[in-house]
Amino acid sequence: MSNVDEILPPHRLALGAATASYQIEGGVAEDARGPSIWDTFTRQDGAVRDGSDGSDACDSYHRVDDDVALTAGLGLDWYRFSIAWPRVQPSGRGAVEPGGLDYYDRLVDGLLAAGVNPTATFYHWDLPQPLEDAGGWPERATAEAFVDYAVAVHERLGDRVRLWATHNEPWCAAYLGYSAGVHAPGRREGAAGHRAVHHLLLAHGWASQALPDSANTGIVLNLAPIRAEPGTPAEVGDGVDALRNRIWLGPLAHGVYDDGVLAVAPELTSPDLVRDGDLETVRGSAAWLGVNYYTPVRPGVLGPDATAAHPEQAAYPGVPGDLDLVVRDPRTDIGWEVDATGLEEVLRTTQERVGLPMVVTENGAAYADPIGPDGMVDDEDRIAYLRDHLAAADRVRADRVDLRGWFVWTLLDNFEWAEGYTKKFGLVHVDRSTAELRRTPKASYHWLREQAAVRRLPATP
Ligand code: FCB
Repeated sequence: MSNVDEILPPHRLALGAATASYQIEGGVAEDARGPSIWDTFTRQDGAVRDGSDGSDACDSYHRVDDDVALTAGLGLDWYRFSIAWPRVQPSGRGAVEPGGLDYYDRLVDGLLAAGVNPTATFYHWDLPQPLEDAGGWPERATAEAFVDYAVAVHERLGDRVRLWATHNEPWCAAYLGYSAGVHAPGRREGAAGHRAVHHLLLAHGWASQALPDSANTGIVLNLAPIRAEPGTPAEVGDGVDALRNRIWLGPLAHGVYDDGVLAVAPELTSPDLVRDGDLETVRGSAAWLGVNYYTPVRPGVLGPDATAAHPEQAAYPGVPGDLDLVVRDPRTDIGWEVDATGLEEVLRTTQERVGLPMVVTENGAAYADPIGPDGMVDDEDRIAYLRDHLAAADRVRADRVDLRGWFVWTLLDNFEWAEGYTKKFGLVHVDRSTAELRRTPKASYHWLREQAAVRRLPATP
């Protein structure tokens, strides 16, 4: 019996902050950790904007106590983190390294002692390199390996971590990694992305079956409101919605890839790929759904009044036509359009499509964040972004959308994947010019702390 209702009670919106292993931990050679696809990818020329990598990141592997204290200082209900598979099984299979798990033990115990609930994600993109060498997510064997890994982690932490997610944003893992090649492992193989999708879903479904019910297992998706530009052929908007949203929600809620999905991803009609029973395994396998939201997606053709386009067509293989992804102002420092109504829209649509308890597992904004003369970061733009999106979360709840939590991305300025350290999403500034990677809470940190405090006050009778 799932007890999501007990740990994510419906009567209030819980607040949290999120991070990911490769983006903050550093310590890539500690305790027998094996190489991940991000260690390999970041060494390729031009893969990362500033040529950096996550080998130091925020050094949270060695500063776990500091980072727990920063989290505790926010007074949030939840801290969301991910586990680095290469720390647990350096080659992706077989013997479990106790040293790597010791780190997460310390983290979890520190959070609990501070009154913060930990929630863990098994896979936030750091695949052990040996599994990629054997073919990676386009191969079914990777999904099989994932189940053993998840069970091993749960055996160690499941007595204290009561809310789990299998994958973070499998759309990115599949299509940015295997079709567009802008994320690790950097493959540009179009249809390999579709194969990866199926195996990521299967890994999720199998793991949900293998873990005890008390794991309250969900999955975190970067769903998006799709706002086709005027004049865009219907099949283009539908194709983008298919790969971004329905390819995940259809199997999870109904055990099907719908016709629109199969039209852009015909690989999924192959009985060698989608085998008997696979979709049954996936159907109903999520006890809750994490929704990461940053910006709406506007498929279409760049017109005179649109300001920019993301060159991400290759991340939607099979979608017909000349696809641009149009971006309108205002935009954040990473070029993503700011529109809090998009959060409302995606939550309402997803509620209709799947009807699962939802948590906004990531929401946040990158800004340049100059340090003021007083040494502080007065990030009013981030506060405005967060305030407007939190208000959107409150609005959908008032309309009976089953939203249980809203988590900010992210605690610390960190390694932002292909953008390296050039884009800052943190509530806490990390000064990379100091040996100790000095952490300074920004104005948004103090703002969030106030929100958490106010929402924890008992209601006046
Ligand atoms: C999401 C990722 C997260 C972070 C934010 C900005 O796509 O899940 O790791 O990079 O974007």
